[in-house]
Amino acid sequence: MTQDFLSIAELTRDDVEKLLSLTERLREDKTAKPLAGKTVAMIFQKPSLRTRVSFEVGVVQLGGHPIVLSNEGIGIGTRESAQDIGNILSRFNDAIVARLFDHQILLDLAHYASIPVINALTDLSHPCQIMSDLYTLQQHGRLQENISITYIGDGNNIVNSWLELAGILPLRLTLSVPHGYEPDKQIFDEAVKKGISSIQIVRDPKEAIKTADVIYTDTWTSMGQEQERNKRLFDFWTYQINASLMKYAKSDAIVMHCLPAHRGEEITNEILDGKISVVIDQAENRLHMQKAILASLLRTT
Ligand code: CP
Ligand code: NVA
Repeated sequence: MTQDFLSIAELTRDDVEKLLSLTERLREDKTAKPLAGKTVAMIFQKPSLRTRVSFEVGVVQLGGHPIVLSNEGIGIGTRESAQDIGNILSRFNDAIVARLFDHQILLDLAHYASIPVINALTDLSHPCQIMSDLYTLQQHGRLQENISITYIGDGNNIVNSWLELAGILPLRLTLSVPHGYEPDKQIFDEAVKKGISSIQIVRDPKEAIKTADVIYTDTWTSMGQEQERNKRLFDFWTYQINASLMKYAKSDAIVMHCLPAHRGEEITNEILDGKISVVIDQAENRLHMQKAILASLLRTT
């Protein structure tokens, strides 16, 4: 494993496979305490339910002590620089978990910290989510080579992390995003250049959904984009996952969503709460995968 967990792009296929198997082991064995005597500082500049609770519970289950720091408390970029936060937290703690707006602040934090830094979501990527989702696919017996994953909606941080994974594992990744809402160009080009996966943009969701084993969506308005909400509702309206779109999908396809969902926008209740949805397993698996990430980075297993 790398020193930090900043993006999936930095992992090797071997790292990904080891994380999946450690996740399975830690899910079954709740007695392991590899973080005994260790503390983890957790910075949240944006809201969170799943990430905050799963990391906090995960650190405690592994025998460690989490310290949650809000932006109001530490003032990232106002009261304190990333340099000082990285240096100071490294003198007290064994790892830093950070949810931030600007990805560059995460990189700066990791540069100055002498302890592992974990990306708990930035505007650019959400690697903990996609690694947990990969485990969910394995748990549901869906993780075969060239699995067809169709993402419908906004080309956001979730898509960027899927693209980074597609640069490591062979997937058939279809992105159905409106014009102007494509994922990060550099990450997209890099994933295509690696030649590991087949990656395509198919604008029409009815066409994109046809071959999907997995249908994935996320909010049209990510945290920090609230002022754009009305425009986005208009631009994305035909990208909703609903019963009429699902008529074009394969009968054994499953539906994924990282949550929080804007019910009735990117997805209807009927689909989100339906039999083919695995969203609650996705949420639970954040806990197991993040325990594996912490244990691997702290080299305690
Ligand atoms: N999926 C996810 O990261 O959820 P939270 O924003 O609640 O942490
Ligand atoms: N794209 C969403 C993901 C939330 C987990 C956001 O950044 O708000």
